[in-house]
Amino acid sequence: MRTQVGIVGAGPAGLFLSLLLQREGIESVVVEMHSRKYVEERIRAGVLEQGTVDLMHKLGVGERLKLQGLEHGGIELRFGGRGHRIDFRELTNGKCVTIYAQHEVIKDLIAARLAANRPILFAAENVSVHGLDGERPTIQFQMNGAPEKLECDFIAGCDGFHGISRASIPEEIQHVFSRSYPFGWLGILMQAPPSAQELIYTYHERGFALVSTRSPDLQRLYIQCDPQDDIANWSDAMIVEELQLRLATKDNWQLLVGPIIQKSILAMRSFVIEPMQYGRLFLAGDAAHIVPPTGAKGLNLAVADVRHLARALTMFYKQNRTDLLEAYSTTCLRRVWRAEHFSWWMTSMLHRFLDDDAFQQRMQRSQLDYTVSSRAAATSLAENYVGLPFTW
Ligand code: FAD
Ligand code: PHB
Repeated sequence: MRTQVGIVGAGPAGLFLSLLLQREGIESVVVEMHSRKYVEERIRAGVLEQGTVDLMHKLGVGERLKLQGLEHGGIELRFGGRGHRIDFRELTNGKCVTIYAQHEVIKDLIAARLAANRPILFAAENVSVHGLDGERPTIQFQMNGAPEKLECDFIAGCDGFHGISRASIPEEIQHVFSRSYPFGWLGILMQAPPSAQELIYTYHERGFALVSTRSPDLQRLYIQCDPQDDIANWSDAMIVEELQLRLATKDNWQLLVGPIIQKSILAMRSFVIEPMQYGRLFLAGDAAHIVPPTGAKGLNLAVADVRHLARALTMFYKQNRTDLLEAYSTTCLRRVWRAEHFSWWMTSMLHRFLDDDAFQQRMQRSQLDYTVSSRAAATSLAENYVGLPFTW
């Protein structure tokens, strides 16, 4: 098998890249280790920046998004038993975010790709990449036990944090920057009507809590927890009680409660590898960087990477230019580090660190108070949350 661009991974990065290249008449093959059903049902992100929404429309995959996506013009920061709205539209010249589940985005992208008769090889086994520093890199794998070899001009490593692409770069070339946090998130899906019109980010002495949504009858909620904790230790009643305690307000706000249909614990980390390129391998999305979810940036950052990569590859094929490919890593890393900082900042402001660190708690309360009282501070949060211009 031969193609122009071999793409490892059918997550947001790999699928958006395949459609962007398709639009420019550049061939690609997507190689994915999991089944179609698995990737279409994996519960992940929910917040799309305006730029991501616009791109979906441009690629002709925005129909369901238009019908089912929920536009949010702000968020609430809740602390000291009170809510404070950050008005995105007012602070960012009318911009907003859209709530639309990542697995719905994935379904839309896969449907468009397959409708155009372009390949996604699901359930590929033992995927590996070779010859990265030469002119003819290959992706090797097995399909139903039979060995396959895909020859490419370039390989896009879009296989997430635990993928094989980043690990194939010689260790002495990898510069890794990382931070792990002493807490995780316990996330649930609850069958209930929304308790609020917008997302609520809560700082509480018992720990962070987040109220998000998926649809008029399905809600997404998170509480800060011990990352080593076993989800089996958390009964549904305990989760609801903890949410109610952390979200309580002086004016008696009520959480609307229903059956919990899914629950899991996720660890939080910040991670960047520099550079995001080795020879003819280009990393994009979570394969190159991870942010804690508090800033809702991961998916959007993956999309920004592949927009740059698609443009650089287009210039290579159409004008024989290599300058954008050479600049790929530097171009992406500027936005990556902005998102790393924003996500770390939101995480640091909203979570409970050591129980006895009273100084840190005063710092957090002061930062929250300033953020909701100063137009300049609120604008900084808002413009980062809705997404900086693509030129960043
Ligand atoms: P992935 O989505 O991880 O996709 C990688 C793909 O590669 C997968 O399909 C995987 O199966 C495949 N793969 C892995 N290894 C191999 C291999 N060896 N061979 C072949 N295929 C392979 N981001 C936001 O922007 N907003 C949010 O609100 C938000 N909330 C989040 C909430 C949670 C609970 C979590 C976990 C994440 C959240 N994120 C959010 C982050 C977001 O989900 C990720 O940043 C995003 O999925 C990254 O996309 P990706 O394509 O780079 O990687
Ligand atoms: C989500 O809805 O899953 C979600 C929303 C906002 C975040 C993280 C996750 O910051």
